Amino acid sequence: MTKPTFYVTTPIYYPSGKLHIGHTYTTVAADAIARFKRFSGYDVKFLTGTDEHGEKIQKKAKEAGMSEIDFLDAQIADIKALWEKLEITNDDFIRTTEDRHEKAIQKIFTKLYEQGDIYKGEYEGHYCVPCESFWTDTQLLEGGKCPDCGRETELVKEESYFFKLSKYEDRIRDLFESGFVYPESRKNEMIKNFLDPGLEDLSVTRTSFDWGIKVPFDEKHVIYVWIDALCNYITALGYGSNNIDEYRKYWPADVHFVAKEIVRFHTIIWPAILMALDLPLPKKVFGHGWILFADDKMSKSKGNIVYPGPMIERYGVDALKYFLLREFSFGQDGSYTHRNFVNRINSDLANDLGNLVSRTVSMVEKYNDGILVKNDTKTEFDESLIETYKQSRADFEKSMNEFMFHEALENIWKLVRRTNKYIDETAPWVLAKDEANKDILNNVLYNLCESIRLSATMFSSLLPETARKIFDQLGIAGQEDLYNWESVDTFGLLPDGTKVHKGESLFPRLDVEEEIKTLEEMFEEKKIEDAKPLEHKEEITIDDFDKVEMRVGKIIKCEKHPKADRLLVSQVKLGSEERQIVSGIAKWYKPEEMVGKSVIVVCNLKPVKLRGILSQGMILAAGDDGDDLVIPEAIGAKDGAEVR
Ligand code: ME8
Ligand code: MG
Repeated sequence: MTKPTFYVTTPIYYPSGKLHIGHTYTTVAADAIARFKRFSGYDVKFLTGTDEHGEKIQKKAKEAGMSEIDFLDAQIADIKALWEKLEITNDDFIRTTEDRHEKAIQKIFTKLYEQGDIYKGEYEGHYCVPCESFWTDTQLLEGGKCPDCGRETELVKEESYFFKLSKYEDRIRDLFESGFVYPESRKNEMIKNFLDPGLEDLSVTRTSFDWGIKVPFDEKHVIYVWIDALCNYITALGYGSNNIDEYRKYWPADVHFVAKEIVRFHTIIWPAILMALDLPLPKKVFGHGWILFADDKMSKSKGNIVYPGPMIERYGVDALKYFLLREFSFGQDGSYTHRNFVNRINSDLANDLGNLVSRTVSMVEKYNDGILVKNDTKTEFDESLIETYKQSRADFEKSMNEFMFHEALENIWKLVRRTNKYIDETAPWVLAKDEANKDILNNVLYNLCESIRLSATMFSSLLPETARKIFDQLGIAGQEDLYNWESVDTFGLLPDGTKVHKGESLFPRLDVEEEIKTLEEMFEEKKIEDAKPLEHKEEITIDDFDKVEMRVGKIIKCEKHPKADRLLVSQVKLGSEERQIVSGIAKWYKPEEMVGKSVIVVCNLKPVKLRGILSQGMILAAGDDGDDLVIPEAIGAKDGAEVR
């Protein structure tokens, strides 16, 4: 019998910087579902990769003083190493700079052009380089800033090819009604924000940079990243090449995992491209939520990042996987904090699971030399334990098939916690005091190990390393029929005489406050490059500068302005002269703090009245409207001395 197929993808990530736990989240989730489907009998294709064209990559390579491809090769090596560390089981890794992809994209583009779905026109828009996004006038923030990251955008006007997106509006509307976008809330966002205002044709080429796939019949154009990027899901299967066996076998995808910011591309543009190519549409697009960091989307362009590498190093692969899949509801946004991370590891992994395994195995070793004995001397608590297992098994499968990873884990943990309770209820240490209870004790120990086997088998797709360690401690490593998918249907598979042995503690308990400190140091914000470029004034000559007369002035008296809270009125001694100066510094300095300071005064400013009080000059201050303003002092200088 041939197995049913299952094709799952992650976005192809931009390799412009190191990947963080946001990217890890999608990849770990896709890996969990790929593993689960293989486990439960599917022929799975799991694809991830990198999106390597575009202006930003070109800029990053230049900054690093490298050629584009050398820069990319180094980045991709890091990304692949990360996925390997995380035991990600992708079957393929596509790079959009690969020949197999570039050739296919050129074919696709040409086909769409020849059939009239792509035509030539002129494009005008505001482009944000760090976000690789185009914005219309109405989308921009005040001052023409990018609505996503708040940085400057560039106005771009150029000849461009367009894809006739508008033509597919009705068919896409129908598609949305057919249950294609998950979760449901994303569908409504798409309809309201994009379909209802009407779809416009999409600019799909650029002439302003050249790091991209060339339009084969018009080489000054490169194919703009989204057509290039989206088609990876079929080019990786060989679409557009001479061998389309895999394409035939796996397309359409069962699910594309993406986060919400690119749902638009995957649920509107991607289906439209496929419609134009007359190809089947993916069955589902799942737009999960964002991991927020201090209420902001974690992002490479904002610099507030938690990286997976150091976390894996310190806590292990499965601690990070568990946290990502359990803490956040797939589909919704959730905030990352170090405290949530540490608490989650402590409560669920160290306490619930780790304790259960170590207590159980220790007791089997202590009370029966590590040997499991199967008998049917039941306790009054067995039925409820087995009932919980049955419920947990059914609910787990349901949650997995709905991609509700947090629920899937919670459903297993119901069994884990019930099993811990079973220890308290049966109190094996009390039973062990009387030889007459030997059979009951053995039955209790057996049931504990069996519950652990079933829990670990269920979570083996999500926490493979931990499951392996547990099978090892249970003494069943290598006996796959005791931990395959069929094996979760039966309570009581562990053979009589199985010998367990205690291993290392699975998840050592963490000291919460200590650990938070460690994490803070690990990811201490490196305040690089985020400082805005300085805005300089027009150049002046030394003669221009000489026109400004500055002198040291000593403040001899200072009081609040009677009519303005912001202002202080100072009497300033400049050698033989005395002047009155009004300054907007009341937010930072009290009048009594000003007295005695030797400040720098611009003397030849034309006197003005500020809220009715004469000001004869200006006291220099450093800083602007931000939190800190400082009055520079000329300590030790004589009042009246010229500053130059
Ligand atoms: O958008 N929370 O690449 P990208 C949750 N190349 N998920 C996050 C996340 C966060 N804070 N940050 C990133 C691109 N992700 C395109 C995709 S696909 C044809 C082209 C994950 O490097 C999430 O899956 O910006 C998101 O959609 C993806 O990384 C964006 O990766
Ligand atoms: Mg992005």
